[in-house]
Amino acid sequence: MKILGIESSCDDTSAAVVCDSSIIEERILSNIISSQIDIHKEYGGVVPEYAARNHMYSIEECINKALNKANININDIDAIAATSGPGLIGGLLVGTVTAKTIAIMANKPFIAINHLEGHLLTARLCNRIDFPFLLILASGGHFIFAEILDINQYNILGQTIDDSAGECLDKVAKMLGLPYPGGPAIEKLSEQGDSNRFKFPMPLLRRKGCDVSFSGLKTAARLLIEKLEEKDKADMAASFQMAIIKAIINKAKKAVDMCIQNINSIVLAGGVAANKLLRLNVEQLAYDNKVKFYAPPITLCSDNAAMIAWAAIERIHKYGYYSSPITQITRPRWNIDNIM
Ligand code: KG4
Ligand code: ZN
Repeated sequence: MKILGIESSCDDTSAAVVCDSSIIEERILSNIISSQIDIHKEYGGVVPEYAARNHMYSIEECINKALNKANININDIDAIAATSGPGLIGGLLVGTVTAKTIAIMANKPFIAINHLEGHLLTARLCNRIDFPFLLILASGGHFIFAEILDINQYNILGQTIDDSAGECLDKVAKMLGLPYPGGPAIEKLSEQGDSNRFKFPMPLLRRKGCDVSFSGLKTAARLLIEKLEEKDKADMAASFQMAIIKAIINKAKKAVDMCIQNINSIVLAGGVAANKLLRLNVEQLAYDNKVKFYAPPITLCSDNAAMIAWAAIERIHKYGYYSSPITQITRPRWNIDNIM
């Protein structure tokens, strides 16, 4: 089975061809990503209108490159999958309308994919991971703890009550005068800093359950940064990065206890999963709970179309070939416990 995947929910235009080979290393036949970072970094964040326009300019070239690199003709593709939400509506429309058009013209199924489902299944594209597992999904727009019981059986245990972890890292990086995207910039600067230098509150310390909050950390950072000297920036970056990680791990411990079934592993996913210190801390948590730890390779943590194609493969394996309605709407908000 060979699937063409398309991703355009934020600031990366991406097209990929993925197959369901039992040999993991042979699954991704191509994964073309055209990043818009250079366009948005001038503004310190994604400008939705520019993002939509640039998806429109790049999508055709991305798809052609993905097919060429995979050495495959569209007629030999089995289905076309595209991110239908959540995300920025303009970009989602570009990706889904393109996918639907190709599907109609080539007479192939069109499969609407939830972007978060793409992130959460990526670890299974690169490893053999059994259900159930605990998912920690940390991206630019979302933060979710969920017990993953099977394909499309996602039990949300907790989520952020305000900002996502990635959003907070991006905003604090901007306050520190670091380039967009802020997560990698904070990670890099942290290498020279002392993570014990500045103290941050622990969010929702006494609250039951595993909901998280990051906006208080962002406010605390803003107050500290107002009085900060240039020489202290690395210490601030390292302390803030550590505060975010501690907030995640503190609630992740509760999430483990909230799982109904005996989980086999803890899976970290989403753009923030590229953070090495976070990976180490989640790995330690898994070790403490005698379960395995998985995260996608760093290059597949941030948005890409291979994860969208793979989610379609997982769905077809479970449900057989199907077509989402061609009238399927794009959904700027769309959680994983309500996919279909
Ligand atoms: O999943 P993603 O690529 O896009 C969304 O679906 O939102 O996540 C992007 C987020 C951004 O906030 C970015 O700063 C963060 O992931 N990020 C990181 C790292 N690389 C990307 N955060 C911390 N450390 C990193 N190395
Ligand atoms: Zn994403």
